[in-house]
Amino acid sequence: MTTPARTILFAASLPLGFLLGGAAAPDAPLRTGPAAASEAAEHSGLQRMLDTALDDERHAIAFYRAVMDKFGERRPFSNIINAERRHEAALLAQYDRLGLLPPSDRWAEHAFALPDSFADACDASVVAEVRNGALYDEMIGAIEDETVKGVFERNRWASVERHLRAFRRHGNGWAPIDAEEPSEKQDEQRRKATGARDALFASLFAELSAAMREGGPVNAIGVCAERAPAIAETVSAERGVKIGRTAHRTRNPDNTPPIWAELILDDLPTQPVYLADRSGRLGAILPIMTASACTQCHGEADALAPGVAGALAERYPHDRATGFAEGDLRGWFWVEVPAEPE
Ligand code: HEC
Repeated sequence: MTTPARTILFAASLPLGFLLGGAAAPDAPLRTGPAAASEAAEHSGLQRMLDTALDDERHAIAFYRAVMDKFGERRPFSNIINAERRHEAALLAQYDRLGLLPPSDRWAEHAFALPDSFADACDASVVAEVRNGALYDEMIGAIEDETVKGVFERNRWASVERHLRAFRRHGNGWAPIDAEEPSEKQDEQRRKATGARDALFASLFAELSAAMREGGPVNAIGVCAERAPAIAETVSAERGVKIGRTAHRTRNPDNTPPIWAELILDDLPTQPVYLADRSGRLGAILPIMTASACTQCHGEADALAPGVAGALAERYPHDRATGFAEGDLRGWFWVEVPAEPE
């Protein structure tokens, strides 16, 4: 599935401590004494915040441009992209005022994996605008420069009060359903979702166990890598749903969630969450906890089975799925169930 705009891997998930980080930028003025040192540190914090905001605005501009290249010049993208360009300009004016150097635009030539439908593109943009608002919120609370703060506040206001609403109106309308009182159709859809989850879990587990017995964990990694996506596709086809696995810390970066799940997953739910859209589709997010057997390949360094660390590093250079203990949230199954016929 697609990565929505502004799922900026570093910015959105970055602790504020890093943004405000202590070390002065390498090009900070070389002066000595406590006052100069704190001024430089202050500037480097401000620079990082400006860089983060600028990167996010540019990501949005590039993504919205790519959406319009695919779906045509259409509202709300056609007017919101102009607002984003004004946001970018307002930020650049702050670099000027402070004598700071803006980074180059790393999104201008980026090839986005675009959603299949216009409504999905709007949903992806909802995710982007919510995260943009949260990013500004976090920085506004920590910023001392009143002028930059004012710019951040205006940019944030436009995202949250204007853009978000416009994108929501044009999106699929995904929203959590009332878990206590689902309709009969939703009840049926929930059974399909958990049934598909059980089927996927059972066949993954069977193949994993067989591979472990035959050749130990290192052998099983290869089996998992090749078989897991294929098994998910088979279950999807057999049951007429879409199903997959995802995580907050993935091993395989292709295990991305569908757009409708993104914002819910930001809250790291440990209980099932069900959503529905306007057309009657149902989305299920079903948590996966870490069992003790899982730590052979997902645990702390000392819990990993012999040879596993090396095999993982070779196959998954961006592996983030170790360090889990028994009982920890490991990730989620997500299931998308089509609308029930009338
Ligand atoms: C033999 C090693 C091994 C064991 C044991 C193992 N896993 Fe994994 N796990 C993997 C590999 C390899 C992948 C990547 C598969 C892929 O490419 O989709 C993976 C992926 C996952 C994912 C998909 C999200 C991601 O991080 O990419 C989840 C969720 C997951 N494992 C949960 C578990 C759970 C729960 C257990 C215990 C029941 C478990 N695993 C046991 C090797 C293992």
